[in-house]
Amino acid sequence: MDHLKTGEVINKRRKELGLTQNQLAKSLHISFQSVSKWENGTAYPDIETLPKLAAALHTTVDALLGYSSVVTDYDRRYHAEGYYWGLTPNRICYDIMKLLPPIKPYRVLDIGCGEGKDAVFFSKCGYHVTAFDISEQGIEKAKRLAEHNRTDVTFFKADMFDYRPDTEYDVIFSSGVLHFLTPSVRGEFCDSLKSHTSDGGLNALNVFVKKPFISRAPDRTRDEDKRHPWRSGELFGYYHDWLFSVCKEEVFDCNSGGTPHKHCMDTLIAQKITAPL
Ligand SMILES: C[S@@+](CC[C@H](N)C(=O)[O-])C[C@H]1O[C@@H](n2cnc3c(N)ncnc32)[C@H](O)[C@@H]1O
Repeated sequence: MDHLKTGEVINKRRKELGLTQNQLAKSLHISFQSVSKWENGTAYPDIETLPKLAAALHTTVDALLGYSSVVTDYDRRYHAEGYYWGLTPNRICYDIMKLLPPIKPYRVLDIGCGEGKDAVFFSKCGYHVTAFDISEQGIEKAKRLAEHNRTDVTFFKADMFDYRPDTEYDVIFSSGVLHFLTPSVRGEFCDSLKSHTSDGGLNALNVFVKKPFISRAPDRTRDEDKRHPWRSGELFGYYHDWLFSVCKEEVFDCNSGGTPHKHCMDTLIAQKITAPL
């Protein structure tokens, strides 16, 4: 595996947080020469210092050792003040509302809810919402957002690779998340969502898709290697036996990392219909 060296990680994180070597050293009650030695690779933090150093740099011991993961990547983004993805609900939320207005507390599951903006929005509109994300920071922030809005959402931390619904939902929703699923588990994952959706219920999902004429984002980090864009149309195939309400593919501009580039996304809102019409 290709890892950043510990010294390089410390140097990068320290600079990202705008700390001098001296400031970091002071917070750990050590000399700035120690920090300097770690960063130029002539010494390593001792085992007792590692967790304190990770906390001071708002990261994990794994990440310090170069085992960066999507978890630490999102945890780091969500650690900042403010809401990384903003607070405006995703457009799909309104499409869902049109199809299944909250005339009763329909049960919604939000997979990979991030900092909870969509889950909280649904809850405020009268849906009964359960939401999870792999990022602890995201879940903490989502809980605070629900509290601030005086609304109840069942938030919890879980990894979608392990989690499978154990109860039925009327709406299963996920935005900007499913490209973390490796291709081999997608069929089983979608089957599990479908079988835990009530009759007449909806699955509303979007996925990044590969296109030969769209190059990968220029700012991709090594965490991006955990991302697996879907084949165009693949998502629709898993739902061939449901009724499609929204089924679209869009190319859009993105400026993440400061370099303009494009993404392609497939969006599906499909309804489960079991009885013959
Ligand atoms: C692009 S963000 C989208 C967040 C949210 N759905 C939104 O639209 O604001 C992707 C989210 O997927 C979460 N995620 C990545 N891998 C995951 C996994 N294996 N299980 C659960 N959540 C995951 C990340 O922590 C992150 O919050």
